[in-house]
Amino acid sequence: MRKYFIQTFGCQMNEHDSEIIAGMLCEKGMEEAASPDEAQVIIFNTCSVRENADKRFFGTLGQVKKKKKTEPETIVCVCGCMMQQQHIIDTVKEKYPWVDIIFGTHNIHEFPKLLDSVISVRERQIDVWPEGREIVEGLPSRRLFSCKALVNIMYGCNNFCTYCIVPYTRGRERSRKPENVIGEVKDLVADGVREVMLLGQNVNSYRGDGDTDFAELIYRLDEIEGLDRIRFMTSHPKDLSDRLIKAFGECSSLCKNIHLPVQSGSSRVLEMMNRRYDRDRYMELVDKIRETVPQITISSDIMVGFPGETEEDFLDTLDLIERVRYDSAFTFLYSPRKGTPAAEAEDQIPEEIKHDRFNRMVDLINTISAEKNAAMEGKTEDVLVEGISKQKPDNLAGRTDGFKLVNFRGDASLIGKIVPVRITKGKTFSLEGEII
Ligand code: SAH
Ligand code: SF4
Ligand code: F3S
Repeated sequence: MRKYFIQTFGCQMNEHDSEIIAGMLCEKGMEEAASPDEAQVIIFNTCSVRENADKRFFGTLGQVKKKKKTEPETIVCVCGCMMQQQHIIDTVKEKYPWVDIIFGTHNIHEFPKLLDSVISVRERQIDVWPEGREIVEGLPSRRLFSCKALVNIMYGCNNFCTYCIVPYTRGRERSRKPENVIGEVKDLVADGVREVMLLGQNVNSYRGDGDTDFAELIYRLDEIEGLDRIRFMTSHPKDLSDRLIKAFGECSSLCKNIHLPVQSGSSRVLEMMNRRYDRDRYMELVDKIRETVPQITISSDIMVGFPGETEEDFLDTLDLIERVRYDSAFTFLYSPRKGTPAAEAEDQIPEEIKHDRFNRMVDLINTISAEKNAAMEGKTEDVLVEGISKQKPDNLAGRTDGFKLVNFRGDASLIGKIVPVRITKGKTFSLEGEII
């Protein structure tokens, strides 16, 4: 067992879990393979948030069958959010006999043990915990980027938005102790990290200990010498505190960017979604944030086709998008998830209406993004250089403080550095620039 390959679906939580799985395998002396063909251990870290994530996973799992036939020694492992659902485990057991290990989101630290068992007894191992137990600290991690790191501050979600599977796959909220978070960030900085992304399904409900809430954690992290940038995701509008807004003005390393998912611009739909804020409250928050930090960039998650959504509700969403003028947004077609209340609703929206609304929404969002990015032309931005550009291999790629992607010419020796870049062109999804 020399090489592993991990395919990750879903959000940053999963991305970070995959970094930990990779870290544990590296500790066993293994190395990453460039493709599944070269790997003896293949891991699929799955996501369940929408139906197409499920489908893509089963499609990919089907392709592994061939490899397992020609190289029966290959160990195939599946984990992540899908595996926290019994009906999925049953399907894998029944239809995909070539899977060797199934584990869940609450016990990734057990993976090396499960792997050893499969190697020694050659028998399928299934170990999924229904709920999270004590938070396991000190797991290794093999970072995707050398200059920036994902740091979990909490696990799980208590919000039960009526469309969402996450509370069922990630369990109840549990926060890490502030000393553990701060200690990890200090170690990362010592290892060359300049930017951390703090992760939680709802970071605003972080409760580290008696008096460390999320804003306090930011203030404490802001004091760490050598840490240039702090970001976080995701923050739920229902409990975004005034103190956190103030932190944007006072903490120099806190990036001037916020991802504040609105989901819908209709108060009626927001209520059916159990989001616990309405359109006015959301707009109030946006105004308050912009009063404190006028240059802040704002992004969102927005969905169309929630059961019962009328054309009027949808127009409210378009109107809110126009008023907020998001820098960017992730857009989704509502996808019914087994076990969630909204999936049982009778007034599901027909596919063609969903798609029509989706296209109209995306057009509006893209128009605004392009306008906002064009307005940056001529400005100079500090850019953290992350690596070689994926779009243009002779370019570098990095992010502005406001999280905009910039491509520009430069030497690879700049990777990991923060450099001033003059923006020469603003496109819909990225910027072009030149180093000054
Ligand atoms: N905790 C984060 C969201 C995590 S899921 C938050 O509350 O903002 C990321 C996004 O996926 C959500 O914001 C939502 O827009 C989308 N999403 C979740 N469930 C969905 C579903 N059933 N259908 C379509 N989109 C969904
Ligand atoms: Fe899902 Fe809502 Fe929790 Fe976000 S806050 S993970 S959308 S239940
Ligand atoms: Fe998907 Fe699980 Fe994240 S369902 S979006 S991987 S928390």
